[in-house]
Amino acid sequence: MSSTSTTSSTDTRSQWGSRIGFILASAGSAVGLGAIWKFPYMAGTNGGSVFLLPYIFFTLTIGLTLLIGEMCMGRATRAGAAKAFQQWGGNKVGWIGILSVLTGYLVLAFYSVVGGWTVYYMIQAFLGHGIINDPAQMRGAFDAFASSGTLPVLAHLTFLAVTAVVVLLGVEKGIEWVAKFLMPLLFIMMIILIVRGLTLPGAMEGVKFLFKPDWSAFNGESLLNAMGFAFFSLSVGSGSQMNYGSYLSKKVNVVTSTTWIVFLAIMASILGGLMIMPAVFAFGLSPDGGPGLTFATMPAVFAQLPFGHVFAVIFYVCLFVAALTSSISIFEMSVQSLCDQFKWSRPFSVLLCGTSLAILGVICALSFGPWHDVTFFGLDFFSLLDYFTSNIGMPIGVFGLAIVVGWLAWPMARTQLNLVVEQPEWLLKGFRVIAGGVAPFLIIVVMLKGLGVF
Ligand code: ALA
Repeated sequence: MSSTSTTSSTDTRSQWGSRIGFILASAGSAVGLGAIWKFPYMAGTNGGSVFLLPYIFFTLTIGLTLLIGEMCMGRATRAGAAKAFQQWGGNKVGWIGILSVLTGYLVLAFYSVVGGWTVYYMIQAFLGHGIINDPAQMRGAFDAFASSGTLPVLAHLTFLAVTAVVVLLGVEKGIEWVAKFLMPLLFIMMIILIVRGLTLPGAMEGVKFLFKPDWSAFNGESLLNAMGFAFFSLSVGSGSQMNYGSYLSKKVNVVTSTTWIVFLAIMASILGGLMIMPAVFAFGLSPDGGPGLTFATMPAVFAQLPFGHVFAVIFYVCLFVAALTSSISIFEMSVQSLCDQFKWSRPFSVLLCGTSLAILGVICALSFGPWHDVTFFGLDFFSLLDYFTSNIGMPIGVFGLAIVVGWLAWPMARTQLNLVVEQPEWLLKGFRVIAGGVAPFLIIVVMLKGLGVF
């Protein structure tokens, strides 16, 4: 963990060294492939603006409130989701904590595959193959790589191994230090690439697609996808932020810190969309090109820049680190949960998580190639995990959080909110209204509608 200082002789859990350390780590957990890889293709398949607007709405209401709630719960119980739910909500909701941990763990199985794509593209960029001059080859180049079997599997295993080694050696502090420089650099790179993309002929169509509402594309499924993505992008309802909250000092104002994290996550997604979508339209790609969209598009954007190879190297290194800070938070949470629950040693828990995730990830990686036709409920294994975690696991996790902090443990949540500064009454009321009423109601309605129940 960031720091190994302890609070008292009876409390041996690690603690963040500083407020900024916590914000960086939690923002690192939130900002990752979600913004740059997932947001563009989800927006592309769900009507652009009518995905973006509900995403921002869900993030600023349910997402922000329950991320604050998750941090409060983690800090007060000094436990991971499985125990924290039991402590604050009792036996009846204990299973939701376990489901949250399982959801986070399953995210990592497919996240690591996309992390592997980043590794591959980063290596390609270092070898001078980071750009594609002929837009006609953009899609084909990605598809050939992703469906090749061996390469994506090796790339996934490499990404997972790096994640596991960082967690095993406890060198997250080093990663945080690296992230402190590379995350701002990633934002700067995105802005440069956006400016270049926007000046391509035809790019404005992409901007319109993202920002000009076309309500004919709006439906229950796109709404559920937007809500699921809001939770995915904040890493809320999947255990990892609660685990980070459990390392949080009592001196940190959880409301302002979490607001920063949410702000950064929204900015990253909007920048991710602006980086990809105008280029997609300018190069005549289809916005509903699925999970490969970002990786197919970027090499052609680099080709439009002077020193495109250099930009490609810097961009993929930054993206790799952003992906790593997210995967570390999920891996750390999974390992910590095993250590807490079964009292297993850390190395054994790392080995168990690493091995099982390696296997699940291989199945995910192969679903872009030889195992594409192996489907469950009409989805290949990668898409199944992606869909289940964002649209079922996380919403149930956030629903549980809402019931616990809005009702079952409201007095405890209130104490946590007021721990550093006395919060204004409107804020406490707003928190309670959203956590206790708006969030559970909306989550149920959006889930049922999105799953086609009515
Ligand atoms: N919140 C992480 C991301 O968006 C999982 O990449």
